[in-house]
Amino acid sequence: FGKLFAALTASVILASPVFAAGKTYQVATDASYAPFESMNDKKEVVGFDVDVLKAVAAKGGFDVKFINTPWEGIFATLSTGDRDIVSSAVTITDERKQSMDFSEPYFEAKQMIAVSASSKVTKFADLKNLKVAVQTGTTGDEVVQKLQGKTSPNIKRFESTPLAIQELLSGGVDAVVADNGVVINYVANNKGAKLKVVDDSSFAKEYYGYAVKKGNKDLLAKINTGIKAIKADGTYDKIYKKYFGA
Ligand code: ARG
Repeated sequence: FGKLFAALTASVILASPVFAAGKTYQVATDASYAPFESMNDKKEVVGFDVDVLKAVAAKGGFDVKFINTPWEGIFATLSTGDRDIVSSAVTITDERKQSMDFSEPYFEAKQMIAVSASSKVTKFADLKNLKVAVQTGTTGDEVVQKLQGKTSPNIKRFESTPLAIQELLSGGVDAVVADNGVVINYVANNKGAKLKVVDDSSFAKEYYGYAVKKGNKDLLAKINTGIKAIKADGTYDKIYKKYFGA
């Protein structure tokens, strides 16, 4: 009887929300966006976003499982319930806010241009009539649409940013427009590619946030608690330094 009682007590404790370990949330990430998210040799998702969200989860009292998910349709995984969080260097935009909810911002970014080292491009306006590769549906895609017009035949869209960069390397386009951190990281780590970075003061500030299904207030509160805590106790700064220096 003692044993049975112990087993019953144990199962009651396990089933009780008070004693339950943190819930595990499924995290969608397009792991082709170093240094924010990429796959290492062991096929694990690694990067700044991973370190930050794991730290956020530890403080917010939940667990996360990162799942490499194609960018195209990544936000739809929230409404279908396949994923709980999108952590993918996602810029908070008014348009996206209509169909999903965002955490507090955790990173400031902006657009940046990559061109061949010999290119004469010195500013964004120079791309007006040139061929530009972007990742479909990103904020990079949006700014180039603003410059060239939505239906411009000179915008070449790719399902990932590495594919867009590949097109630049093979000479199919004159430039790539993507987030500054990713462009700077690629150019610095691929010296043999003979690319250079072109900045432009017209690019607006963007802020990355974690996206959740519209109305998922409970999860959003946990994430925001975590973000606040890691910013307050120095954890965020440590991770930032690890990836971007002082
Ligand atoms: N920040 C940009 C956006 O939200 C690009 C994000 C792309 N992220 C990725 N993991 N591919 O549109």
